[in-house]
Amino acid sequence: MKVILDVDTGTDDAVAIMLAALHPDLELIAVTTVNGNVPLENTTDNTLRTLDFIGRSDIPVYPGLARPLVRHDFPGKKDYGGKSDMHGLELPIPEATSKAQDTGAVEYLVETFRGATEPIALVPTGPLSNIGAAVAVAPDIVEKVHEVVIMGGGYKHGNVTPTGEFNIWADPEAADMTLTAGFDPLTLVPLDATHQALVTREDVARFEGLGTPAGTAAARFIGRRIDAYTAGHRVETADAAPVHDALCIAYLVDREVIETRHLHVRVETQGELTVGQTVIDTRTHAAEAPNAHVAFGADARRFVELLAQTFARTC
Ligand code: RIB
Ligand code: CA
Repeated sequence: MKVILDVDTGTDDAVAIMLAALHPDLELIAVTTVNGNVPLENTTDNTLRTLDFIGRSDIPVYPGLARPLVRHDFPGKKDYGGKSDMHGLELPIPEATSKAQDTGAVEYLVETFRGATEPIALVPTGPLSNIGAAVAVAPDIVEKVHEVVIMGGGYKHGNVTPTGEFNIWADPEAADMTLTAGFDPLTLVPLDATHQALVTREDVARFEGLGTPAGTAAARFIGRRIDAYTAGHRVETADAAPVHDALCIAYLVDREVIETRHLHVRVETQGELTVGQTVIDTRTHAAEAPNAHVAFGADARRFVELLAQTFARTC
C-alpha cells in the first residue's frame, strides 16, 4: 500500500513517520507538513530529522500551510520545553542534512492524486489545513484517494478544550471540509481510541533495547511524552502515554488494532465554548448518512508489538 502522511511533527507524528517508513507492507511515498504542534518551519525540520535519522532521506517532504484556512487565532510560536510540553520545538535527534522540496504540499497532493494509477492512502495526523485546501482547489481528487485515515476528534472529551481535540480545533473549517468532502472510506481515529493504546515506560525500555535508530528515536520521543503526561496531562494509567498518530499507520497494516463504527460526523465551527468539537451522531435514527468509520476502541498490546517489530528493522 502506498501512503502519503500529512503531519505536524511532533513526537507522535515522528513515531508514525518511522512506522510508515519502515513497515514492509507500506511504501511511504511522501510526507507533507502543516502548522500545528510547532510552527511549519519546525514541523518540516522535525520531519526531515526523523527521516534522516532512520536512513530514509529518500522520502520527499513537501511543506504546506503555515496557518489555518480561516482563523487568525491559530496555534503559533509559544514557550516550548516546559515539563508538560510533549513535543518541544525541535526533536531530540541530530539536525537534518536533507532539504524539503520546493513544491508546496497542496500542489503536490493535487498533482499526485490526479495522476494516481495505483491505490494511495492519505493519512493526516495534524490540523487538516492542507487537505481542506487541496479539496477546495481540486474536488476531483476525492475519488482518486483510495482511503483516508485521520487522527483527530473526541467523542467523550477533547484535549485542548473540554470538547476540542487539537487537530480538529486548530483548523475546524478545514476539518469539516475534509469530513464532508466525500472521501470513502474515511476512518477517524479520535482520542477515545488513542487513549486506549497507551505505551508504557516498559515498552520504551524495550524500544531502546532494540539498538536500532528507530528504536532509539522511539524511546526518546515516547519517553518525552510519558514525562509530559506524568507532569500535567494525565491518562488513566501511570507512566504511560498515547502515541496518537502512530495508531493510524498501525491500522493500515493491522485492521484489528482498532474497532470502528460507521457514523455521521461534522465539526462545530461556531460554538463559543465548543468550537472544534467533532459532533458524532451515535443515534440509531441519525438523520444523515455515515461519512466516517470512527474508532472507539484500540488494542494496546497489538499496537506496541507492531511498533517493536517494525522498529527492530533498519534500512
Ligand atoms: O490531539 C493529538 C494530536 O494533536 C496529535 O496528532 C498531535 O501530534 C497533535 O497534532
Ligand atoms: Ca500530529
